[in-house]
This record gives sequence, C-alpha cells and structure tokens, in this order.
Amino acid sequence: MKLTIIGSGYVGLTTGACFAEVGHEVMCVDNDPKKIETLLAGDIPIYEPGLAEMVTSNVAAGRLKFTTDTPEGVRHGDVVFIAVPTPPNPDGSVDLKFIEKVAREISPAIDSYKVIVDKSTVPVKTGEKVAETIKRYAPDADFDVVSNPEFLREGSAVEDLMKPDRIVIGANSDRAMAAMQKVYEPFHAPVLATDIASAELIKHAANSFLALKISYINAVSAICEASGADVELVAEGIGMDKRIGRQFLNAGLGYGGSCFPKDIAAFIAISDELGVPFTLLKEVERINADQLERFLKRLREKLWVLEEKKIAVWGLAFKQNTDDIRCSVALDLVEKLVAEGAEVRAYDPKAMDRVRALPLAEKITLTDDPIAACEGAEALVVATEWPQFARADFAKVKEKMLSPLVFDGRNLLDPKTMISLGFEYQAIGRGAPIN
Ligand code: UGA
Repeated sequence: MKLTIIGSGYVGLTTGACFAEVGHEVMCVDNDPKKIETLLAGDIPIYEPGLAEMVTSNVAAGRLKFTTDTPEGVRHGDVVFIAVPTPPNPDGSVDLKFIEKVAREISPAIDSYKVIVDKSTVPVKTGEKVAETIKRYAPDADFDVVSNPEFLREGSAVEDLMKPDRIVIGANSDRAMAAMQKVYEPFHAPVLATDIASAELIKHAANSFLALKISYINAVSAICEASGADVELVAEGIGMDKRIGRQFLNAGLGYGGSCFPKDIAAFIAISDELGVPFTLLKEVERINADQLERFLKRLREKLWVLEEKKIAVWGLAFKQNTDDIRCSVALDLVEKLVAEGAEVRAYDPKAMDRVRALPLAEKITLTDDPIAACEGAEALVVATEWPQFARADFAKVKEKMLSPLVFDGRNLLDPKTMISLGFEYQAIGRGAPIN
C-alpha cells in the first residue's frame, strides 16, 4: 500500500521503516529540513537498535522516501499517519497545536479518499477534533479519521513494531477499518477493532497501568527497606502469578522518558476535564518522585555531606538501549547531586552527545568509559539499567575508587558478587541480609 507518515521522530521514522520493510511504499514527511537532509544523506538522527540498517536497505529498495513537502506526502499516501509530538502544557494537559497544524496543512491536499490516522498519543476525543478541522478547511474532502495508538518501547522499537502484541484500530467506518487491516496484514498480529474514543483511551490507560505497576513495586521496595525484605524476591514471588506477571515490576529510581511522565499527567488532566478525576494516578506520580528522594536521602546518610564528594554516575539515558535523555531520572539525580555541590563524573554508552549539548555538561565531568568515571570516587551510583554495567571489571572499579561504596539505583548488580569483591553495596528495596 502507499503510506505517508507525517512527523519523522522516534515513532514516525521507526514506523515508516517497519512499514517499508513489510513491502509498503512509504513516504516520511517532516517540516525540519535539517532532519530530512540528514535522512536523505543516509544518516539516522536517533539511536535505535536495528533502525539504521532497516532505513538504509529500504531506501535502497525504493520503498522508503523522505520529503519536507506535506502536500506531496498527502498525495502519495492512501493512508496518512500523523506522528507529530504532543508535548505537555505546564498544567499536565496536552498541547495539541502540532496535531491541529497538521490537520490544517493536509486538508487542501486531500485529492482522493484518504484514511487519516492519528498515531501520536493524544487525549480521548482528539480524533473528533481532527475530523472537524479537516472538514472546516476542506469541506469536500473524502476522508475518514482513525486512531491507531503505538505501543513501541524505545530501545526495542523495531522489534516491538515488527512483532506487536496487538494492533488497536479505532475507526467509525468499515472502509477505513478495511484499509487499516490491509496495512497491518503483513505483521500477523491480533487486531482489536474499536471506536475512535476507545482506541485513544487504550493508549493512555495502558501506559498508566504500566507506570502503576512500576510505582507499586517501588512502594513495596520502601517497605522492604524498612522491614529487611528483598524486593527482588517479592517481585519474583508475585510475578509468578500469571494474573500479575513479572514484567514492569523492576524496582528502581522510578520511571522517566518522553512517555510515562507526560501520559500519566495527561490522563489525570483529561479525567479532571471530563469530571471524573483519576486520583489513583496522582499517587503513582507521588511514589515515582519519592523514589529518587529516598535514594538521595540514603546516599546523604552514608556520605553525610555531598559537597566536594566525587561521585561516579553510570547511566544518563532514561533507560537502557537508547540515547534518549528526555525526562531521564538519571539526569534528575545528577542535577540534584550537582546542586548539593558534589563533583559528578558520569558515563553513558549512548547518550553522551546529547548530554554534552546541555548546560549541565559544564558542571560535570563526562568520561570516555565507566572505569574512568570512578577515578577518586567516594561512591558509584548506577542510574540506568544498561546491561553492560553488570559486566564491568569491578576489580578495576575498586582500584580507582577512593572508597568502595556502590549505590545501585536499578538493582542491576549481583549483591553477593559485589560484597565478595569487597564493596559496600546498597540497592533499592534489598534490606535482606546477603549470605
Ligand atoms: C513506554 C511503553 O512501555 C510503551 O508501550 C509505549 O508505547 C511508550 O511508552 C510510548 O508511549 O510511546 P518507553 O517509554 O520507551 O515505552 O520505555 P519503557 O520500557 O516503558 O520504560 C519507561 C521507564 O520506566 C524507564 O525509565 C524505565 O527505566 C522504567 N521502568 C520500566 C522501571 O523503572 N521498571 C520497570 O520494571 C520497567
């Protein structure tokens, strides 16, 4: 099929590449000429495992094209996906100006029946507004609006898109639903057909539920610390119940990223607006914020004053396998350490370039490798769950450090190994004695 993706960011670019991979003819549009130039030159503006190879091979095969020309994009696609940012307003609600702008811009270019798909994460009822806008700017346009939320995770986006758990299609017409089913046929995934509002809600409700799971285990981790239990064993024990499941029960410094914090705030805002406040989610947010504060308190209890203390930080990205630092808890932690006068030496396998561009970079030392970050450090903090950190040469780490104190904010390291190597090891919710 001929498909157009408007917005070539994380979701748009990866979705476009995966659609091309299964044989569709895809045109990716972006209004940032620099981004399109980069893509046309064969470079990928983000790090996502497997994406660069997929883009290169599909561009070579002629199935993936890039343009800054929105009308050209609209004329190309039978199905036009909107995948533009939906940033938060200061009050937590969603700023829909980019979606509205795209709706206006595509209207005059609709020259035949088009399915206009909202892929961006939006509050319930946005689909209705997109349809109204197109009708206002192009009263004769032949189109349907569809909601098709995206469930990919950064760091495994290509895999998630190629082998999705489910495809949710919210449509109010059989013609649009049939077109969407054809788009997704090659993925052989279960399809859930819904109305538009339900599809929009599924996305916010799914992300909120995952965040709730994380905050749940983080709240349990605080009780584990206070009672001497081990949250890893507790998570194992409750996760073995198939109704609960072990995934997203990893205790740590809390969730971050461009999705959960924003989407939970947006779900709270839209539920308030609809007159049915979702107060449970406010508690989810509170627990998440508290997790970092509790960790810092424990670090202060150990080091007493943080001012002038060298602290090594491993991990700056918001999670493993990505260079994304948006709403990264690891960066929040570094900011707070710096504010207290600590001398931070930090390393991340992929996010260094992005961190270098921040004003924060002036106030910390960024090192070329994890061992160098530990030079003279009085504590090492693991802030992001990069698996390679668990495989580090800890004998060397210990040699470099002034005192062998490790604060594992992601429960990534093996406590027994760390203790046998002579480290003092502190983690999240692991109060149980280690034999
Ligand atoms: C999340 C959802 O998992 C995707 O399904 C969704 O499509 C996406 O948001 C989106 O809305 O676009 P993502 O933000 O890429 O994906 O990353 P996650 O793997 O969900 O991790 C989010 C945060 O939670 C990270 O900071 C991670 O460190 C933290 N986390 C995750 C935990 O602290 N514990 C866990 O058990 C799992």
